[in-house]
Amino acid sequence: MITIKNILRSADIVGKTTEIKGWVRTKRGNKNITFIALNDGSTIHNIQVVIDNTKFDENLIKQISTGACIAVKGIMVESPGKEQLVEMHAENIVLYGNADPETYPLQKKGHSLEFLREIAHLRPRTNTFGAVLRIRHAIAFAIHKYFNDNGFYYLHTPIITGSDCEGAGEMFRVTTLDAKNPPLNGDGSVNFSEDFFGKETKLTVSGQLEGELGALALSRIYTFGPTFRAENSNTPRHLAEFWMIEPEMAFYEINDNMDLAEDFLKYLIRYALDNCMDDLGFLCKMYDEELIARLRFILENNFERITYTKAIEILKKSGVQFEFPVDWGIDLQTEHERYLVEKYFKRPVIVTDYPKDIKAFYMKQNDDGRTVRGMDVLFPKIGEIIGGSQREEDYEKLKNRITELQLPEKDLWWYLETRKFGTAPHSGFGLGFERLILFVTGMSNIRDVIPFPRTPKNAEF
Ligand code: 4AD
Ligand code: MG
Repeated sequence: MITIKNILRSADIVGKTTEIKGWVRTKRGNKNITFIALNDGSTIHNIQVVIDNTKFDENLIKQISTGACIAVKGIMVESPGKEQLVEMHAENIVLYGNADPETYPLQKKGHSLEFLREIAHLRPRTNTFGAVLRIRHAIAFAIHKYFNDNGFYYLHTPIITGSDCEGAGEMFRVTTLDAKNPPLNGDGSVNFSEDFFGKETKLTVSGQLEGELGALALSRIYTFGPTFRAENSNTPRHLAEFWMIEPEMAFYEINDNMDLAEDFLKYLIRYALDNCMDDLGFLCKMYDEELIARLRFILENNFERITYTKAIEILKKSGVQFEFPVDWGIDLQTEHERYLVEKYFKRPVIVTDYPKDIKAFYMKQNDDGRTVRGMDVLFPKIGEIIGGSQREEDYEKLKNRITELQLPEKDLWWYLETRKFGTAPHSGFGLGFERLILFVTGMSNIRDVIPFPRTPKNAEF
């Protein structure tokens, strides 16, 4: 079985008989001859199949319409057309499945991305989603390759958890209790001791806490898995289910963490440029003509590194009327992040040392008593692409912070124990996979870079 990608790659294919299987993209011709553009998803390119109508049953040819799935045997010949170098002259055709032109939703080209979201079961068959999904695969592969080549171990952290890593309380509950009639405690609250795990459990928002346990044994680990957030933000950059890559490294301090983040992102972008040019070229042509230049630009420039305090100064002096007013202590909004990246520095920016009140409990506390050693990597068009930090490794400081924030210590005893037994300086970060794919593909809505997006009120497919 040979894919269209491999046929188009083989130098000596002309004159050979082969078989291709795929879905009809377009059909044209006249009563004597039919031209089919066939695509099997292995590449953005189609193979043109030329059918001599007199050799085939009329009814068969009629049924080979856009969307139909066929297998064609034939001989590969040099193509007189300028669209392609080779084409197949059909000798035998099997129709696996027709697609009624009256009802097939992708009968015509040029549907809006919004419409395609409503047919997420079929949109992988479009050029755009084929390209996005192949790039998504290539980057996922490159992530594993990068870490493997650099001595990191892939740690599988749990999806079901009893603790809220980010402390934001935006978690989906996992339960087998009867929603209509749950067992109750004396005070009317739900009695989770009767639940499947004997306690209240949720879908994880991050693999970090367990990742730290791994790093404090294997030195360098990474996770790469789905994470879940029940935040009701209907934006082009938020999903309720998204994939996150979280490296965690013993003996790394914040500067090592920043170096890793920059090197990692550049590696992945370089990998896409080296391996996905067909698909990137298509997306560049169709959606975003600056895409490839923007990707190259990332490789050619150092990321700017500034503190949060400095960032606030720059934003205050900018003279821009932001929707969210700027003052020391605020959480940076996308408009602020994009100003720093796109207008001020004109390159990716890493902001460090955020106020402790807007960051999670685990971040290493600075000596000033009001900031923590967090870092966010900000990208053009995206805003925050990475969030991370050096971790608080001091048992007392961490325990006090947990108490101060009134976090449930009973759910975090195991996390605290790593600081009690052989604690070590360590750091890590989380890269939002879909945010990276957004950047690399130049798409503008995160719903269009994951096969089956989960967002508020949407989990159809
Ligand atoms: O900044 P966040 O919340 O950091 C953490 O979860 C840390 N525990 C990571 C760590 O240090 N190991 O999320 C990390 C990244 C963000 O920078 C963003 O790229 C992405 O995850 N992200 C989302 N992507 C899509 N939809 C959402 N709702 C996202 N929330 C965060
Ligand atoms: Mg963050």
